[in-house]
Amino acid sequence: MIITPRVRGFICLTSHPKGCEQNVVNQINYVKSKGTIDGPKKVLVIGASTGFGLASRITSAFGSNAATIGVYFEKPSAEGKPGSPGWYNTAAFEKQAHEAGLYAKSINGDAFSDEIKQKTLDLIKTDLGQVDLVIYSLASPRRVHPKTGVIHNSVLKPIGQTFSNKTVDFHTGNVTEVSITPASEEDIENTVAVMGGEDWAMWIDALKAANLLAPGATTVAYSYIGPALTEAVYRKGTIGRAKDHLEATAFTITDTLKDLNGKAYVSVNKALVTQASSAIPVIPLYISLLYKVMKAKGIHEGTIEQIQRLYQERLYTGSEVPVDEKGRIRIDDWEMRDDVQAEVATLWEQATTENLSEIGDLAGYRTDFFNLFGFEVEGVEYGTDVNEVVEVPGLV
Ligand code: NAI
Ligand code: NA
Repeated sequence: MIITPRVRGFICLTSHPKGCEQNVVNQINYVKSKGTIDGPKKVLVIGASTGFGLASRITSAFGSNAATIGVYFEKPSAEGKPGSPGWYNTAAFEKQAHEAGLYAKSINGDAFSDEIKQKTLDLIKTDLGQVDLVIYSLASPRRVHPKTGVIHNSVLKPIGQTFSNKTVDFHTGNVTEVSITPASEEDIENTVAVMGGEDWAMWIDALKAANLLAPGATTVAYSYIGPALTEAVYRKGTIGRAKDHLEATAFTITDTLKDLNGKAYVSVNKALVTQASSAIPVIPLYISLLYKVMKAKGIHEGTIEQIQRLYQERLYTGSEVPVDEKGRIRIDDWEMRDDVQAEVATLWEQATTENLSEIGDLAGYRTDFFNLFGFEVEGVEYGTDVNEVVEVPGLV
């Protein structure tokens, strides 16, 4: 079929297999161009199909020749019905990995569930024996709690008071004022239940109990801080509470891993266009200004540049992992540079519907958004028929 984008707000209902494949190939080529990393050998990536998790899987495999198992929740392709981008990304990744002689298998299902955890443990036991790196990169709006059965829905709200600020509809470029009413106590608890560290700890506990973690095993989850501009709705809002919980969980997990000499880290990453972040109010406006400033300074990075740098310059340097005063790895260092933030803050004051395409990188935002779904990718032929049904070669 000929596949075109069908956009509904901040999601796109269709995705393009060839575009997704090209994105993955581009990421692989980037990692290869940066040379070999003396990194992990057997890696489990939870949330492996898009965004930072996919970049982690690619960096593990093509930067460090690692065997990888990916867990994700994606819609398979079917006749007349394109799959979700993560489905096509994984198909492309596993095809490339297998051609390169690398072990790569994956499991599609709810990572929050006991069933998918058990399935993953069985696969590691049979195929890899143990893993030495576990990347935790889930971004989800809901979680069915495996012990209580309760469905938790996360919300993106400020805490304590109504938040009013500028936001942009990145499709139209319309800059408007948005007001978000504060979260209830229940909203906070639900968001922490979905995006906090409980599930990460459950994974590590289960892996450890089954003796599937190698001596010195490392686990990494991803967090975000961001600027004062977005603080009320992000870091000091409901999602920030979840990130506080996730960051605190790193210490609990490190205790769990003591006898293995293992360690849990949270890496604070840069704001980027992903399916998760385009859903957050105010963030798209911030990102479009940030992109403009960082590109002008020659320090813009995408997910693959971020994760490649995380591995090569933080996690696997051969010496101690550098962390901030709260024990976190900072790969958002360029985003948070004073000169960058000062310029973004000035542009933020000025931003209007009329000038945003000029002073912000709205075009870059949009391109990145469409790229997530395999559209507007350079070198891909979109006018012709493609087979929408694609197999994931390592799917278990
Ligand atoms: P994403 O939406 O690109 O990736 C989410 C991944 O989780 C996908 O592989 C998806 O299949 C998987 N997933 C979601 N629900 C699942 C479930 N129930 N079971 C199994 N897999 C499931 O998101 P992104 O942006 O890569 O986020 C990953 C982490 O990075 C999150 O913790 C996020 O907060 C963090 N982060 C994101 C930043 C951004 O600007 N996008 C910045 C800094 C941190
Ligand atoms: Na991810």
